[in-house]
Amino acid sequence: MRLLYREDINEALGDEVPLLSCSLPTPGPTEPAKTRAFLEGLLPEGRALRTMASKQDVLLLNDAPATLEDLTSLLGGYGWECAGAIMAIPHGTSPPTDSRYQPLDDQAVAERIMALPWHPLGNDPELDIRMSLGGAQPKLLLSRFDGRWHDPIAGAPSTHILKPTVTWPFSAQNESLVMNLARSLKLTPVSSWVEYVAETACLVTERYDRVIVDGKIVRLHQEDMCQALGIRPIDKYNVGNLNQRMVRLLREFTEAPSDQIMELFRQIAFRALVGDEDGHGKNVSLMLDTGSVELAPLYDSLCTLAYPELNGKMVAPIGEQHYLAKVDRDALLDEATRMGLVGAEAGEALDELVSQLRSALGLIPSDVLNGWPSEELIGLLDSRMNRLEHGQQMGRDPLSRVWLGASMDSARPRPPASGIAFSEASRAP
Ligand SMILES: Nc1ncnc2c1ncn2[C@@H]1O[C@H](COP(=O)(O)OP(=O)(O)OP(=O)(O)O)[C@@H](O)[C@H]1O
Ligand SMILES: [Mg+2]
Repeated sequence: MRLLYREDINEALGDEVPLLSCSLPTPGPTEPAKTRAFLEGLLPEGRALRTMASKQDVLLLNDAPATLEDLTSLLGGYGWECAGAIMAIPHGTSPPTDSRYQPLDDQAVAERIMALPWHPLGNDPELDIRMSLGGAQPKLLLSRFDGRWHDPIAGAPSTHILKPTVTWPFSAQNESLVMNLARSLKLTPVSSWVEYVAETACLVTERYDRVIVDGKIVRLHQEDMCQALGIRPIDKYNVGNLNQRMVRLLREFTEAPSDQIMELFRQIAFRALVGDEDGHGKNVSLMLDTGSVELAPLYDSLCTLAYPELNGKMVAPIGEQHYLAKVDRDALLDEATRMGLVGAEAGEALDELVSQLRSALGLIPSDVLNGWPSEELIGLLDSRMNRLEHGQQMGRDPLSRVWLGASMDSARPRPPASGIAFSEASRAP
């Protein structure tokens, strides 16, 4: 399959059209393998994908659409609201013209969360809700304005992502804490917090690819690094030289590559500092605006070291180190140099990041900390910072038993040796 680039459409739209993907050259032709990887990257993974496929009578093979027809029929069925500015419409049909929002009361939001196993992302074609978003965790896409949640209907843009705690204890609180730190360090402009829905703690995140312009919600285009590099979602943990490849891409496509590579290093270093092993190619994204490409804000970060059944092996090594516990300042600076950064500048940036993180750890609002054993997580992060500053490897302090996740239920599948296993573990009933 190839994607067709139509100059006439581009011209009709004026010069307001961002690049669709770094992996899909214009005017083309696009490479079939990269086209497939890009389109698959718009779909969820794991259980959500299986449920959506079974409802569309679509065949999956090895956790991906079996054929190109299966892929396009899934996108045609669910692609009215995707990551970035994409809307997928079946050939020969028109985009919906009656986009609207339906206000939801607390009970209705709770029903949407409880129904996620059958209605991934909140999808309900009978209600004209057809949405798609990458990732393996259960998620609900809603819009929030006038202080209320709304269903985005008939291709209306969603504004927030709600991620319920499914398998890993306090995962919503953990991600909210880490993303609050990330916001303090200006790694993201958007807010994340925890809301209890149907007695389940859910992480709520504002979408950075949605903005309000003249009172209207507007989509900003983005793609993840797997899409940009032509890598299929099923290979997201198996990208050799991920950091080098991302750097090469930033050099090729961005206007100020040195700044962008430094920003990528800050994201990589932040994940290492907070003990997040899950920095795979779908957890880093690019914003594609008219005529420009930039790194997207950091997202989907939490302290995976909190969970004893995850082995702390990072998706991409830092310097020579593969395990979060072994990373030290030298490894981080080694990685920075491999990324082409000037050692002294990277050293300054790292010291600034560590000192900002230290300050931010002392200034976390109480609503982020209360009601869960946050002090243990703060303690873990604190001692990692201490060791780093003393030139030691950051290590891994065990947390108490309340942090035990999937291992408390031996019937659940064990995570694979590499990468976080949320996708596997969340498949458990
Ligand atoms: N705040 C946000 N704004 C816009 N898009 C986002 C945001 N957070 C996540 N996304 C998009 O949604 C996708 C899925 O989100 P996320 O990575 O949090 O899900 P996940 O299921 O936890 O992923 P994983 O499979 O890595 O565990 C991301 O890959 C990214 O494209
Ligand atoms: Mg993710």
